[in-house]
Amino acid sequence: MYKTAVLKIKRDLINNKNIEIIEQTKAIKKAAELIVENEVVAFPTETVYGLGANALKEKAVLKIFEAKGRPTDNPLIVHISRREQLFKLIKGCILKAADKLIDEFWPGPLTIIFKKSSRVPQITTAGLDTVAVRMPSHPIALALINQTELPLAAPSANSSGFPSPTHAEHVYSDLNGKIPLIVDGGICDIGLESTVIEIQSGQVNILRPGAITIEMIKGVVGNTHLVKTINHKEHVRPKSPGMKYKHYAPSTPLWIVKKSSSITKILKKNDINNEKTLIIVSSETLQDLRSNQIKTKIKDLGSINDLDYIAKNLFKILRESDLEGFKLILIEEVSKRDIGIAVMNRLTKAATKII
Ligand code: TXA
Ligand code: MG
Repeated sequence: MYKTAVLKIKRDLINNKNIEIIEQTKAIKKAAELIVENEVVAFPTETVYGLGANALKEKAVLKIFEAKGRPTDNPLIVHISRREQLFKLIKGCILKAADKLIDEFWPGPLTIIFKKSSRVPQITTAGLDTVAVRMPSHPIALALINQTELPLAAPSANSSGFPSPTHAEHVYSDLNGKIPLIVDGGICDIGLESTVIEIQSGQVNILRPGAITIEMIKGVVGNTHLVKTINHKEHVRPKSPGMKYKHYAPSTPLWIVKKSSSITKILKKNDINNEKTLIIVSSETLQDLRSNQIKTKIKDLGSINDLDYIAKNLFKILRESDLEGFKLILIEEVSKRDIGIAVMNRLTKAATKII
């Protein structure tokens, strides 16, 4: 058992993006000290909060799996702050396509899979001969990596099976007593985990969709590579082992309501037009529903024209809603464009039914 400390870094320091100043804060000094002592620390990234440890130390990485209750066959992403750190983690040279994507999207929410070097312990990559690497853009994440001078293995800082944390409070509620420190940097900007890709000759496979979209990747390597989103069901042994777990599932049954379906009809037909049901819909649908005889609680997911807002707040809404004692949650489908693809990917995993 730990007594979990929470150390906050002020919003104006984060907004100013002055990494050297953030490196000198009490929170980062303490966090770096713990990491160097082979402990784990939760910290914000631009996607979601991560639970970091020295990626090169088996003993430290093991603590990540223990704190999260994560199966050890699910590999971790290694976070770096400078490009030079990449060469120690990988074997062989960097493909031209990887180089271009790094130039364009690092630091940022893109994770790339490489052949791993022998320096990276088996536990970090769950025994795979590849390693997933990303350079986050959040100034706190960069300051922490700089200060430790270590590559940090960091999965999302939730308990295994819960939605990824987008606020320090989410981390606290999942991991209180299980980790020594949470660096609180407020809300994460993107709110969904990074895009994960693997690069083969002539092909880029998207293993997990995220804020770096298929169009954005095509825009950089589309003339030389076929860019494809991989549906993990296509593989007997999943390429990205994490994809086989039902990561984001709330404990309350969750139904996705297709755009073509009528919510009022669904409520009536299933006899669920009552206060035990929660419906989460776009601001636009919410307006439409007002005139109907809806007895359920309704929450606003945000405007259909602002998918970034929807992505940013999705996990918070799911977490909160799950705690409110409803028997059933209905959530409206969003457009599968831009980050909406990633939103629907996470929702589909969490859902018990699509109606
Ligand atoms: O945005 C993010 O990526 C966050 C922040 C903290 O950086 N991290 C995150 O980590 O979402 P995690 O562990 O929750 O998800 C990592 C995903 C899993 O689906 C895992 O299976 C996959 O990346 N992965 C990691 N290493 C891999 C590898 N060598 N080959 C294939 N997939 C890999
Ligand atoms: Mg995760």
